[in-house]
Amino acid sequence: MKILNFGSLNIDKVYQVDNFVRPGETISSKNLNFFCGGKGLNQSIALAKAGADVWHAGCIGNDGQMLSDALQDSQVRLDFLKTLDMPTGHALIQVSQTGQNCIILFGGANQAISREQIDETLSHFEQGDILLLQNEINNLPYLVDQAYQKGMTIFLNPSPITEQLKEIEAADLSDVTAHNPQDYADILLEKYPSCHILLTMGTAGSIYLDHQTHHTQSAFKVQAVDTTAAGDTYTGYFIAAIARGADVQAAMKEASMASAISVTRNGASTSIP
Ligand code: RIB
Repeated sequence: MKILNFGSLNIDKVYQVDNFVRPGETISSKNLNFFCGGKGLNQSIALAKAGADVWHAGCIGNDGQMLSDALQDSQVRLDFLKTLDMPTGHALIQVSQTGQNCIILFGGANQAISREQIDETLSHFEQGDILLLQNEINNLPYLVDQAYQKGMTIFLNPSPITEQLKEIEAADLSDVTAHNPQDYADILLEKYPSCHILLTMGTAGSIYLDHQTHHTQSAFKVQAVDTTAAGDTYTGYFIAAIARGADVQAAMKEASMASAISVTRNGASTSIP
């Protein structure tokens, strides 16, 4: 079974601030760092660091060499990574004193994934292989349809939530009142009965459910300095554990530990243990 991550790659420009900038305000940052990031890249590095053999597909521009270098250093396979004549995606990230972040994305080459690239890449994978996706590249519905037709197992991390995804969510939840995250997971499962749902809730831990089972995992308590890529670390470690045959509860525990460690370190991919 092979693992393909078709996902974003960003140069993260990380500004250390006392508090997030407010409307109409100008603030100075205490520090600026450039890190390798993008939910796709972070998740590929987490998968590789967790011991999985992973192919990363996506697009960067000529200014994105540091991103392909970082993936290569972590032994991620790059056969399906394309370099285009346009800017690499980037993220402007403010990190506050408490380690919280807020992010502005510029899609750049992440939004230039062609159907031809998708077809060519998927032709190297087959039924039973894993496809991991996030919501930072274009042509996602086409990718899902093609991979589904091939019989690949699809892991979709629907992050970041966009207006389009919100509309779908609103339609699903329109006639139900959800009181807590567990309710949302139940509603999604009712609507999509063959799905397996994994909900990560930061310091509130994580929940997994499918039609037969239900698991919870509490978060490990740590002193956070930067929460960027905590969810990506969780996702990568979880999938790597499942792919090597671990049971769901064990995979959740390992993923929680890895993401707890990641928030004690600065940066996105650099924080992944
Ligand atoms: O999940 C963290 C990531 O979100 C950052 O690395 C940033 O690039 C954005 O994609």
